[in-house]
Amino acid sequence: MTRTAPRDRFAAIKTATLAHLEQHGCGCYPYADGSLLATLAAAAGAATVVELGTALGYSAAWLASTGAQVHTIDRDPVHTRQAQSHLARHHLADHVTLHTGEATDILPALAAVSADIAFFDGFAPTTAAIDALTTTLRPGGLLIAGNMTLGGQADQIRAQLASWQHTDLGETLLAVKPH
Ligand SMILES: C[S@@+](CC[C@H](N)C(=O)[O-])C[C@H]1O[C@@H](n2cnc3c(N)ncnc32)[C@H](O)[C@@H]1O
Repeated sequence: MTRTAPRDRFAAIKTATLAHLEQHGCGCYPYADGSLLATLAAAAGAATVVELGTALGYSAAWLASTGAQVHTIDRDPVHTRQAQSHLARHHLADHVTLHTGEATDILPALAAVSADIAFFDGFAPTTAAIDALTTTLRPGGLLIAGNMTLGGQADQIRAQLASWQHTDLGETLLAVKPH
């Protein structure tokens, strides 16, 4: 039996991101599986999501497509400008708030959103970044940490989240914030 690869609703943003990173040299690879993010958001009934690492809006589009309100952060204004236009083209601009700046400067103001999902996709994850990001997450909320094989802090991050229900999918770690 032959299997057909599922169609990616936001393939155009993924393609634009891959073309952009070649020219810009920014290394902002789009998340590998946008539909996984949307499936997790739908299963969690997520109303609010905080994302670190917008790039051109590929993962934000998938997360917002579930009806969640997404706060997404990127330090590069070229990225957030382009994300704005991609999200508008997909009629998702009203579901996404773009924050341009350094995550550590922006996340404290987002602590009050009490997000259902916090998604890390900002290059190599560090314990400090995960700490800052998860302050925005409500108890029982889901952390999705991407890029776990980058940067060499995976073991420290797993230790940091040892008391959280978690599972390791290789590149991505899922962990539920304790009540
Ligand atoms: C891997 S890309 C994000 C890909 C995006 N989630 C997608 O699926 O298309 C990482 C992005 O995170 C941003 N970034 C990395 N570290 C950051 C930080 N400390 N604060 C804000 N933005 C950051 C980079 O500018 C880059 O655009």
